Amino acid sequence: MKIDAVTIFPEYFAPLQLSLLGKAQEQGLVEVGIHDLRSFSTDNHNTVDDTPYGGGAGMVMLPEIWGKALDQLMTPETDLIILTPAGKRFDQPMAAKFSQAKHLVFACGRYEGIDDRVRQHYESKNHRVHEVSIGDYVLGGGEVASLVMIEAITRLIPGVLGNPESLAEESHNEEGYLEYPNFTKPSIWRDIEVPAILLSGNHGEIAKWRAAQAQERAKKNL
Ligand code: ADE
Repeated sequence: MKIDAVTIFPEYFAPLQLSLLGKAQEQGLVEVGIHDLRSFSTDNHNTVDDTPYGGGAGMVMLPEIWGKALDQLMTPETDLIILTPAGKRFDQPMAAKFSQAKHLVFACGRYEGIDDRVRQHYESKNHRVHEVSIGDYVLGGGEVASLVMIEAITRLIPGVLGNPESLAEESHNEEGYLEYPNFTKPSIWRDIEVPAILLSGNHGEIAKWRAAQAQERAKKNL
């Protein structure tokens, strides 16, 4: 998979070199390109925004600069993801869908967002454009939201995860991806004992117990 992100803060994406995703890039499973939006600006001040038509607080990102940046990246194989708190809520099924994509471009808006004609333009050219929110809260920009999405999406690409069994277990779990509580050594820690069933060796009973625990946890966290 190829992933490109366009941002005025390329440094935000440094963590992509770490951990499993860093390894996935070394192995050629994922290729990441980070692009500085300001390098497409046309004036001496590297301006990327202006006041909104119709008035109101805040600034809106200029369509001309976004158009220049995105024209260089968009192909018929691209899914363009525009991060915005007004977008469709990101969840595990959406991550699974995007993990099948060939090329993802993340457009990281700041301020009050990107001039809506950018979305309109690429949609009118029959590109796949998705406005996505990672949750019902407002971030300072789309960078952190992109990192969240990239991590959730790329770990679903075959070969990226160290232990593919973790994925199989997740996808068999019908309870909204909430899992049972886990324990490791020692069997008693600060007077708290690991549930005896887990030490029993009875795999059928352990599976039942875990399913019940997962259900209870899901209910509690609704
Ligand atoms: N930009 C600002 N807030 C956001 C959110 N919740 N999700 C995606 N992009 C955003």
